[in-house]
Amino acid sequence: MERLVLKRKEFTLLQAFIYQHIGISLGDHKIYLVQARLAKRVTQLGLESFGEYYDYLVADKRGVELEYLSSLISTNVTSFFREQKQWEFLKSHLSSILAHTKGRLRIWSAACSTGEEPYSLAMFLAEHIPNFTQYDIKILATDVSPKVLKTALSGIYTHKACMSLDEKYLRKYFSPVRVENEACYRINDMLKKQIIFREFNLVTGNYGLFAQKEFDIIFCRNVMIYFDKPTQSTLVERFHTMLSKEGYLFIGSSEALTDMKREFKPRSASIYQKV
Ligand SMILES: C[S@@+](CC[C@H](N)C(=O)[O-])C[C@H]1O[C@@H](n2cnc3c(N)ncnc32)[C@H](O)[C@@H]1O
Repeated sequence: MERLVLKRKEFTLLQAFIYQHIGISLGDHKIYLVQARLAKRVTQLGLESFGEYYDYLVADKRGVELEYLSSLISTNVTSFFREQKQWEFLKSHLSSILAHTKGRLRIWSAACSTGEEPYSLAMFLAEHIPNFTQYDIKILATDVSPKVLKTALSGIYTHKACMSLDEKYLRKYFSPVRVENEACYRINDMLKKQIIFREFNLVTGNYGLFAQKEFDIIFCRNVMIYFDKPTQSTLVERFHTMLSKEGYLFIGSSEALTDMKREFKPRSASIYQKV
């Protein structure tokens, strides 16, 4: 079979489509990455070129293909308790946060990928708050990609995915299961119940539909890096509006809040507090 080649003209069309609908800003040098990630899908659909694939995307008014596209384009790398320093910060500030919110905690893991981040939050809270389930705590976990959300919802992780987890957490919060003859771990229902998983596009999504209007903590880590400056600024402004008084915004260690210096004060490694 002949290898599909993504022509520059086709790439420009896809680049604009991806920016408009997913918010991801792909530099011109990403042409080979896009070709590599989409070629299989184009063939699978029986299409003969990336140009035909673009037309297919535009014609798909239900957005089903857009879901596939977001899964293929975005990078979903994540892990349990990623960015250790941020968890240490949270540990040392947890009691003052809880005192401030009077024991009611609303957390949003925006761009949660396959769920390791919200489950880490749930494990962390269970570990550090005595009688954790008696508190009014809710974690909302969203992502643009239905594919990663499916894994998140299953709460099942391979042995490899659990390697970054402390043995103690694994024993306490997971049960061993076999999936297609592979040894895996399933997160306990008690933790799963604390989390609501939803599909949501941070760039094009309708923020008016949020049931929860205010969050005490927002984790938006390792996704803004894919957006351009204006998109990042709009998003951070939204987070500011959606945070409760003195709420916290956690971002990825390779990301930065360049604007809004007066609205957020830096507290620690990529952690900002609403002023
Ligand atoms: C690298 S993962 C980060 C996961 C997790 N926050 C962490 O730091 O480990 C980036 C995630 O952002 C999601 N994503 C990309 N564009 C998005 C958008 N416009 N809206 C919501 N999520 C998006 C991807 O699907 C992917 O799961």
